[in-house]
Amino acid sequence: MTTIEKTADDAARQGAGDDGTPLLEVRDLHVEFHTRDGVAKAVNGVNYSVHAGETLAVLGESGSGKSVTAQAIMGILDMPPGRIPQGQILFRGEDMLTMSGEERRKIRGRKIAMIFQDALSALNPVLSVGYQLGEMFRVHQGLSKKEAKAKAIELMDRVRIPAAKERVSDYPHQFSGGMRQRIMIAMALALEPDLIIADEPTTALDVTVQAQVMDLLAELQREFNMGLILITHDLGVVADVADKIAVMYAGRIVETAPVHELYKRPAHPYTRGLLDSIPRLDRKGQELYAIKGLPPNLLKIPSGCAFNPRCPKAQDICRTEVPALVPVTEQDGTELPGRGSACHFWKETLHG
Ligand SMILES: Nc1ncnc2c1ncn2[C@@H]1O[C@H](COP(=O)(O)OP(=O)(O)OP(=O)(O)O)[C@@H](O)[C@H]1O
Ligand code: SF4
Ligand SMILES: [Mg+2]
Repeated sequence: MTTIEKTADDAARQGAGDDGTPLLEVRDLHVEFHTRDGVAKAVNGVNYSVHAGETLAVLGESGSGKSVTAQAIMGILDMPPGRIPQGQILFRGEDMLTMSGEERRKIRGRKIAMIFQDALSALNPVLSVGYQLGEMFRVHQGLSKKEAKAKAIELMDRVRIPAAKERVSDYPHQFSGGMRQRIMIAMALALEPDLIIADEPTTALDVTVQAQVMDLLAELQREFNMGLILITHDLGVVADVADKIAVMYAGRIVETAPVHELYKRPAHPYTRGLLDSIPRLDRKGQELYAIKGLPPNLLKIPSGCAFNPRCPKAQDICRTEVPALVPVTEQDGTELPGRGSACHFWKETLHG
């Protein structure tokens, strides 16, 4: 573990009050896809960790490797073409990548649950939501049909679906997008997992419903003291719910920080670009900034810093040397716990 991740962990522990071992820790994870055109390096050495009661937001543009990392954790990567040439995925200190299939199954789905963006395709259209929720209890806990139905209603109440008792026999298409996403949350909660990975859980919803679903997720996470990994490409969504943020670019973490510090003082030009491209009320009327150019082709990631062709601060060294994720400090050298940046010029960005 690098110093940054260690300090990030220490900071999180103080907040979460747990015994010190992260719930989940991803170490130097690499994932590549062998395609006809070549090897696409989707994940290139990701490190992050989550403790009980903590929310980590993983942020980055489309194609930065957020979902592929989550799929590797859940064990649902397409292999082949996917391959994990290197790395560890530790659940309570044990590497899931070296466990037997049986051991892994005990964790994935029960201890770690996932919520996807598209509830309609994740739910079975020809079965009632009550049946699908109840199935979790029938299969995993051996409950009778009647008991399972009662549990399904309880869960629907829990995620605040109005008139749960009357609606338990309805089919997925009879619910609105926001309500369907609540059903997905209910399914993820059913077995009381320790960790939930939510991959763009509100992207398909309109803004007000987005906020309601996000608030519900945050509330349940606190109530159950679960770890939450919240994947999004929308910085606006995470400000109120996340404890810390990991920003991804081209399959690497380029910045990590406690959420409010990242907003106040980013230490990476990419993060600054993301922040400057959020619409803000106090900057009404001003033109919105957009990061120029496109995310890199993963078959041919630029040498040096992968962000260099798009970076307004790029210099010669950026085209030849890969910047490591290093701890960032105040100008007088004071440590900034949990903060790290993978930029040769983080000082200029943070203090400049
Ligand atoms: N089964 C696959 N075969 C080949 N390439 C894949 C496969 N799955 C993902 N990839 C590639 O891996 C890269 C990372 O994808 P990923 O889905 O993790 O991006 P993301 O950060 O989640 O983006 P988004 O915000 O669009 O969801 C992409 O370039 C994608 O095309
Ligand atoms: S290393 Fe160079 S190219 Fe990369 S973000 Fe920093 S300044 Fe920009
Ligand atoms: Mg994705």
